[in-house]
Amino acid sequence: MAGSRSMLKFWKPGSDAPAISEERELNTETIGSTAVFNPYIALSIEKQRQKLPVFKHRNNILYLVENFQTVIIVGETGCGKTTQIPQYLLEAGWAAEGRVVGVTQPRRVAAVSVASRVAEERGARLGHEVGYTIRFDDCSDPQATRIKFLTDGMLVREMMADPLLKKYSVLMLDEAHERTLCTDIAIGLLKKIQKKRRDLRLIVASATLDAKKFHQFFNLNESGDPTKDTCGILTVEGRTFPVDIFYTVSPVPDYVKATVETVMKIHETEDNGDVLVFLTGQDEVEKVVLLLKDQARSLSRQGMKKHLRVLPMYSGLPYAEQMKVFERVPATVRKVVVATNIAETSITINGIVFVIDCAFVKLRAYNPSTAIESLVVTPISKASASQRAGRAGRNRPGKCFRLYTEEDFEKLPSSTVPEMQRTNLAPVILQLKALGIDNVLRFSFLSPPPAQTMVQALELLYALGGLDNYGRLTDPMGIRMAEFPLSPMFAKMLLESGNFGCSKEIVTIAAMMQIQNIFVVPPNQKKAAAREHRKFAVAEGDHLTMLNVYEAYMKHQKSSQWCQQHYLNYKGLQRAATVREQLRRLMSKFKVPWTSSEGDPDVILRCIVSGFFSNAARIHHSGSYRTLRDDRELHIHPTSVLYGEKPPKWVVFNEVVQTSKYFMRDVTAVESSWLVELAPHFYKQAKHGSLGSKRSRVL
Ligand code: CDP
Ligand code: MG
Repeated sequence: MAGSRSMLKFWKPGSDAPAISEERELNTETIGSTAVFNPYIALSIEKQRQKLPVFKHRNNILYLVENFQTVIIVGETGCGKTTQIPQYLLEAGWAAEGRVVGVTQPRRVAAVSVASRVAEERGARLGHEVGYTIRFDDCSDPQATRIKFLTDGMLVREMMADPLLKKYSVLMLDEAHERTLCTDIAIGLLKKIQKKRRDLRLIVASATLDAKKFHQFFNLNESGDPTKDTCGILTVEGRTFPVDIFYTVSPVPDYVKATVETVMKIHETEDNGDVLVFLTGQDEVEKVVLLLKDQARSLSRQGMKKHLRVLPMYSGLPYAEQMKVFERVPATVRKVVVATNIAETSITINGIVFVIDCAFVKLRAYNPSTAIESLVVTPISKASASQRAGRAGRNRPGKCFRLYTEEDFEKLPSSTVPEMQRTNLAPVILQLKALGIDNVLRFSFLSPPPAQTMVQALELLYALGGLDNYGRLTDPMGIRMAEFPLSPMFAKMLLESGNFGCSKEIVTIAAMMQIQNIFVVPPNQKKAAAREHRKFAVAEGDHLTMLNVYEAYMKHQKSSQWCQQHYLNYKGLQRAATVREQLRRLMSKFKVPWTSSEGDPDVILRCIVSGFFSNAARIHHSGSYRTLRDDRELHIHPTSVLYGEKPPKWVVFNEVVQTSKYFMRDVTAVESSWLVELAPHFYKQAKHGSLGSKRSRVL
């Protein structure tokens, strides 16, 4: 089959056989980690710790935590908040008598890497005194762990077993400025807990934060007398220098091109100093890096003395490549770091004097009028713009070139809309209901989501069978769905799979869908990689293709060499196996029958429909797709195995990515009759035989 363009009908492992890679930037399953620069690496750990800006505030922090229920701490990236504050608390006795200091992180990778760093600083083995708990991976010891890093999603899950979080003496909500969905939910729930547990201390930590808003939210003092406030604020000052801001005189039609031109202009006209460029995604970063490298070569051919060193920076980049952006360069070289939003607050690069800001960022967005959630390139906020500019003034006065007009800057929103207000809320509502919060509309949200989005989430949960006519969790479906560490659609698909007779296959598919970049595409070997990947592709689409990849990987004894030959992500597959095992355990806990479809693809596809029916689309005569619910135009994502093939008439998909168009990702061909049969609440068969959607009834 090698090299054949034709697609197989449900390829089975053994007959040979896989698509293309894409950075799922916003998927928290990112493998690998973000590089950290440590300028004091040569010093002893003790000296390194004392050099950090937060060290001067040690006693003050301890005083505030002693005296206020909530402490808000704002300090620049790298000043020592995450790694030091939990240790100060431990040293001051907050983790005595079996109590735990918990630190939440929005990203899984961050939780693991800071836990490792803190364990190293304490000379402890990871998982003992210092540990972490993230989805599918618990590296902590209930008896021994005193400092525990966990994702904010895990903290919410822990509340299901321990509603008052009794084992924690202090909880630090880190990177709170990111305002992820889980952070916001944790914030609302913790406020509730604090009212019942006066002894619980909260620290809200961030690089940039609307401290006032948080103060108002957490301050339980209603007397109006500020001496009785229950919330304190501390700012760890960082040294910053003034940054001159430059705007374009007219709007820029193509910011990728304008970026390249601006870098070259800086290089030709400005004094020494490195450049940091902000773009929205891996593709743009790679494109600009290529263009700049071209320019750099032609400059050196022309005999220009000062050289350019162009380096990419994004979360999917291998660790060793990321570390290069921190390397010092000789005085005759100008470093240009081309980055995604990762360089806004997640990392700090020294020596940056010039910043170029394209004004955009890629965010998850939910459109309540179409019920589509997608990744979309959106204009940044004023707060982001000033944070980006500030990156130029860390070592000396800098300059920021904004690739937009001052007039357009004025039109930007003042801060980024919290994820809570731009996401599908079904998972959140399910969790709140499982925590006994029935009236979700009255929950204490830091920023309440739109009512329409709430209603849609309730509708979807009802259609999935997780809520009853009264909006209560159903027993057992709703209760079990809430317990799955996956979205309600995945949970439904998994819980039903035993009845469909394909739980073995569905568990594999669900696990594989949690991993990004299973297909590896080295930039200089695109063709060879595509040829290998095509061997795994099947006409039914991405889900069965991923099943093929996994089964072939098992058949080849999980060999790393085999993965390399077929351009497959070996670490990703190892992880898929771990995730699969954990899902399998949950299934067995819920007594889901352990069954196999024995090679029949339809059973599996029908089971996928039972979870993902709301994400259905049909082919349009224009060649693109339309959503069934509201006729929104969709396209097959270029990374799908169905891309460029004969388009199936009906499809379901896992998610939508929006760039120039709306693209469906993880797509599978289905039959229209399955939609009506498996989601009668959602779809009805119209008289003339076509499929229509109806509003489901809830509450
Ligand atoms: O949380 P914040 O950004 O304020 O700083 P941090 O994560 O506590 O890091 C403080 C310092 O520890 C960094 O500036 C690094 O020098 C060092 N560090 C490290 O060397 N390796 C890590 N994985 C994390 C931090
Ligand atoms: Mg931090």
